[in-house]
Amino acid sequence: MVGGDELIHLKNTVFPVTKLINLAKAAMQHAYAPYSNFCVGAALITLDGHIYSGCNVENASYGLACCAERVAIFKAVSDGIKEFKALAVIADTQNYCTPCGACRQVMVEFAPDMEVYTANKDGEYKKFLAHELLPYGFK
Ligand code: THU
Repeated sequence: MVGGDELIHLKNTVFPVTKLINLAKAAMQHAYAPYSNFCVGAALITLDGHIYSGCNVENASYGLACCAERVAIFKAVSDGIKEFKALAVIADTQNYCTPCGACRQVMVEFAPDMEVYTANKDGEYKKFLAHELLPYGFK
């Protein structure tokens, strides 16, 4: 799908997918990725329309890096919000930025039916449901 007018259906309103992708793109500008030089942004929208964005945050101790998706999700959870409707993730690449296995496990923990929009640098995207991205995940 390229920049269509697909809508995310929230509790009381609708929200355009392209807008969520643009918010993820804005968050990507804050990525702290001096080790991989791979900048990622994510934007999460809750059922009642709150938005949490995230970027990847790396560390000189490489294994401590946290992905953009988990940063956004943990920001929401730490605000007491766990009802997620959709998450957009984008990187500055031609390929769609699909979430890593750890992020998929975290998504399914809170919102197996969450819509996940994986975008590329041109704003083209593919839609999945979180549980489709992690068949046979750990429970
Ligand atoms: N990364 C994300 O933030 N999200 C993804 O979906 C894939 C990978 C980050 C982790 C690391 O900082 C960099 O991208 C390279 O793996």
